[in-house]
Amino acid sequence: MTEFVRNQWYVAAYGTEIGRALFARTILGEPIVFYRTEAGEVVALADRCVHRRYPLSESRLDGDRVVCGYHGFTYDTLGTCVSVPGQKRIPRTARVPAYKVVEQDSFVWVWIGDPDLAETTPIPRAPWLDDEAYTVVCGMEPLAARYDLLVDNLLDLSHETYLHGGYIGTPEVAETPITTEVDEAERVVYVSRHMADAACPPFYAESTGIEGRITRWQDIEYRPPCLYLLHSRIAPVGVLPNEDGTDPDAFHVEVVYAITPETEHSTHDFWAVARDFALGDDQVSAFLRENNRTVVLQDVVALDLLEKVVEQEADGYQELSVNIDTGGLAARRMLRAMAAEGRGQESPAPTAAAGRGRS
Ligand code: FES
Ligand SMILES: [Fe+2]
Repeated sequence: MTEFVRNQWYVAAYGTEIGRALFARTILGEPIVFYRTEAGEVVALADRCVHRRYPLSESRLDGDRVVCGYHGFTYDTLGTCVSVPGQKRIPRTARVPAYKVVEQDSFVWVWIGDPDLAETTPIPRAPWLDDEAYTVVCGMEPLAARYDLLVDNLLDLSHETYLHGGYIGTPEVAETPITTEVDEAERVVYVSRHMADAACPPFYAESTGIEGRITRWQDIEYRPPCLYLLHSRIAPVGVLPNEDGTDPDAFHVEVVYAITPETEHSTHDFWAVARDFALGDDQVSAFLRENNRTVVLQDVVALDLLEKVVEQEADGYQELSVNIDTGGLAARRMLRAMAAEGRGQESPAPTAAAGRGRS
């Protein structure tokens, strides 16, 4: 498998998932507990009490402090232990690591790696998720598969024709060649497929009201390791954007995935669909939510199956790659390079009480 890429920002949760209840989530193998302070700031601490490793997520909040549910060690928002039962002196090493977090575009991002590198590493944007000009449906599905299988899946949408036929797949997706561009400096993989005259899948016919065939564009922008964007444009056949870039007669759907490894064999599969039409229409939202979730779950079933296949195969198995895999292969190369960098830069021991965020 492609190893984890450390020293990066990862989506840990939607902002709406985290409140005044202790919330546990494992990111890149690190168990983390999240909560909001009384003032509403997100705190992220290692989910292991320094005393006997009891999960802090199974404990309770006292104001902004976490009181361990086993023997009562109490931690502040920086992970520093401020109270130990039965004694006044608090050992100097009584602290748990605190993670940097930033809320942006409806997500809670957490920094995994050397905290000193967080400030200089930009967090990729998905602005549609927090923009009144769009209506959003979203979810998160647990995936029992390694994260690179999901990267591979999302970078080659020709599978829509076969795995998602009747939902978002039509024959033209698999038939239309892709163009791939790799920006090594900015670390982005672009994969585009522009279909000039394609069948309109039910997913878009129902939500846009377009009857008949469509011009369908899929422009992927993958910002490894975590953020995947699919800019999707749907319009009646022959309708193109104006020369000045405006595009009033098309429907735009911004599909966002956040690919966050949980363990070496499981992944948090965050998905969101932002549209610039039928704004606030609850019926369209319910349709898109249900159908998109169905599509995501079709991928989940396939990738869970693939994970079992890959786990059982002998070392050195050789895949066969073809044209449709160009984007996926570029992504793999980039992830490998970033993983190697993450290893090289890492400071030997994680620093405790790293501080909380830059916003
Ligand atoms: S394990 Fe937390 S106080 Fe003992
Ligand atoms: Fe899919």
